[in-house]
Amino acid sequence: MRDVAVVAGASRGIGREVCRQLSDLGYAVVAGVRDLAKAPPGLDLCALDVASDESVAAAAAWVAERHGRCDVLVNNAAILYDTWARASSADVAEVRAALETNLFGAWRTTLAFLDLLRRSPRPRIVNVSSEGGSLTSMRGGTPAYRVSKAGLNALTRMLAAELRPDGILVNSVCPGWTATDMGEHGGRPVQAGAASVVWAATLPDDGPTGGFFRDGRPLPW
Ligand SMILES: NC(=O)c1ccc[n+]([C@@H]2O[C@H](COP(=O)([O-])OP(=O)(O)OC[C@H]3O[C@@H](n4cnc5c(N)ncnc54)[C@H](OP(=O)(O)O)[C@@H]3O)[C@@H](O)[C@H]2O)c1
Repeated sequence: MRDVAVVAGASRGIGREVCRQLSDLGYAVVAGVRDLAKAPPGLDLCALDVASDESVAAAAAWVAERHGRCDVLVNNAAILYDTWARASSADVAEVRAALETNLFGAWRTTLAFLDLLRRSPRPRIVNVSSEGGSLTSMRGGTPAYRVSKAGLNALTRMLAAELRPDGILVNSVCPGWTATDMGEHGGRPVQAGAASVVWAATLPDDGPTGGFFRDGRPLPW
């Protein structure tokens, strides 16, 4: 039986390429997309809007029914790279919207899939973060996005500590500036950004947990 990987935010960009790379490695990949009509062909699709409790619960039930377990969960969905905004003049509603998807989305998806992850012999959770959320290099601007990724990194630390006894490895990964819609099609090729994520999805049993990485190398929190 192939290992099962669930990727949230798989309709395009890094998430879509993570699906392709994990498929090539032999995983049974479930591509979580919020709009099935927009989804790319050739993937095993599952409706998954990480901002909706109902959608996330239905997706977990769908994976349970179809596969009976989840070996890898990639929390990749994100919105609102708000380079136009400043913390000192922020629209709090916009910040809240970013948190709903980028932080609470990853959190509720993880909670919904935990039972399925515990059924795996080698469970992994990858929170796709950004160096923009690093407190060490934090500066002004892009407030909704930065605070959502800093929160996501905190979630990684807590989950890693709490889930270590279950053998679940939990890490944050920055894909680097990558040529997607969010990356405004500059930066490195999507294959490289996705490979940074796939590294953490395919860690060996003695691999790290509770870390923040890009290309397999630690980043400062
Ligand atoms: N690109 C970069 O330079 C860069 C750098 C650092 C970190 N990252 C991180 O890498 C990850 C992927 O980014 P990307 O560049 O591939 O972004 P992208 O091209 O904008 O794609 C974002 C993906 O998230 C999905 N999504 C958004 N809200 C969702 C929701 N509520 N439920 C389910 N899916 C949702 C989108 O689906 P729809 O098609 O339905 O909108 C899309 O598939 C993000 O976590 C991002 O913060 C990217």
